[in-house]
Amino acid sequence: MVNKIKQICCIGAGYVGGPTMAVIADKCPHINVFVVDKNKDKISQWNNEDTSRLPVYEPGLEKIIKKCRNKNLTFSTEIETCVSTSDMVFISVNTPTKKRGFGAGKASDLKWVEACARQVAQYSKGHTIVVEKSTLPVRTAEVIKNILDIDGKDSKIKNTCTFNVLSNPEFLSEGNAINDLENPDRVLIGGEDKDAIDSLHEIYRNWVSEEKILHTNIWSSELAKLTANAFLAQRISSINSISAICETTGADIREVSRAIGSDSRIGSKFLDAGPGFGGSCFKKDILNLVYLCEFFGLNEVANFWEGVVTLNNWHQSRISELIVKKLYGTLSEKKIIILGFSFKANTNDTRESAAIQICKDLIEEGAQLIIHDPKVEREQIALDLGLEEKKENNAYSDNYDNLGNWTFSNNLETIFNGAHAAVILTEWNEYSFIDWEKESLNMNSPAWVFDSRSLLAPEKLEDSGLNFWRVGDGSEKK
Ligand code: UDX
Ligand code: ADP
Repeated sequence: MVNKIKQICCIGAGYVGGPTMAVIADKCPHINVFVVDKNKDKISQWNNEDTSRLPVYEPGLEKIIKKCRNKNLTFSTEIETCVSTSDMVFISVNTPTKKRGFGAGKASDLKWVEACARQVAQYSKGHTIVVEKSTLPVRTAEVIKNILDIDGKDSKIKNTCTFNVLSNPEFLSEGNAINDLENPDRVLIGGEDKDAIDSLHEIYRNWVSEEKILHTNIWSSELAKLTANAFLAQRISSINSISAICETTGADIREVSRAIGSDSRIGSKFLDAGPGFGGSCFKKDILNLVYLCEFFGLNEVANFWEGVVTLNNWHQSRISELIVKKLYGTLSEKKIIILGFSFKANTNDTRESAAIQICKDLIEEGAQLIIHDPKVEREQIALDLGLEEKKENNAYSDNYDNLGNWTFSNNLETIFNGAHAAVILTEWNEYSFIDWEKESLNMNSPAWVFDSRSLLAPEKLEDSGLNFWRVGDGSEKK
């Protein structure tokens, strides 16, 4: 019998869990939604009176939080209570790549998923539908099911609790998460038990049309998520590889993208050359796929997909190298402005951002970086670079050995003074309004602008006297 869901609990209040549950609460006022996390600070940030300081920045999220929070949407650290009173539990925790042991560097570390499954087994009462939301290796549902069966049996509530496991991968893209959740291309539900599938289906039916809700077996659902991300990342590596050919031949990547994107079989989306893909999913999911292939002896398939990540790494270092080359082979004591640190615009997420490696490379070459980002906090940049920020007043001293040579600035008005170069790494809209003619007067001469996102039209810099490089632009060779 289809279980009409009255209460949901989501374990993990991160970039996926927070926005996903906010939209479910908004679209289903009859369901009580609890989002729990073991991280107390994160939960208090979600409960912050000042909704401009939520832990996740997403356009449109603030409005939903204001509307639903403390009505049918609650952020809490009370994991036991929330799990035990819910009919459905979403697992939405982080699954980073393993750093040690078997599969290190490729396989996902499932320790947080395992801990979650044990919590669910221990605290659940009655019948509970467990939904995998995090991107997971294929056949993880089996692991969760085993834990639920074994730990569930051992718990005090023996014989009274039963479980079904479903896979319901999230396809939202950060920066556009609310729109993706409200108008998904598809919702995928993988599972074996028809009633459990129908219960989840009913939730999505509150705002998603019937034909967009796809049912598959559980393994297809898990593999479809990895495959979707692998295909998308492959497109980015493909176009970035062609950008390098454009720069050496006189072709222009924007023209090539337009030309190939007009072919309806290829399609025009996801063909923007950039500084290399970032984000928490692409690299991790491909490496996961590679690990899976190697495990099953499919070495050619593993090599094929690993190439997508290898190309991405190469492309990022290609950008660092060309900056050094254009600045006469040395960055020593040169002031370089980094415009954007998040892995894409409209998010404060920096995970796997191309900016991390490129900034590290430039610092290593002796550059003095001034990093700007409208949403990323300076503390996060310090964590990502593994270097403390240099204090403003000694940013240009000769002693760079102990502290990283970077400072943070959120003032675009004064940031360009004395700079040798500006590097656009994230396509934040505000960077397209910079008056380069005015800034060129404040910059060192000759100075460079490097645009890794094709954000600027070359005409805008024509009268500025600045040297200009943009990704995939071979006009110098024509
Ligand atoms: C991705 C998938 O799109 C999403 O479906 C999945 O749920 C999670 O992983 P996300 O990582 O949030 O989403 O962002 P996405 O828009 O896919 O961008 C990933 C990276 O590719 C970013 O660094 C972005 O700047 C880069 N990118 C994207 C390009 O360089 N060019 C493009 O044309 C598109
Ligand atoms: P994602 O991008 O997948 O949402 P995040 O790292 O942003 O990943 O969020 C995952 C969240 O899951 C973190 O806030 C983390 O504290 C939380 N988490 C991980 N394991 C557990 C657990 N066993 N119980 C509760 N919360 C957990």
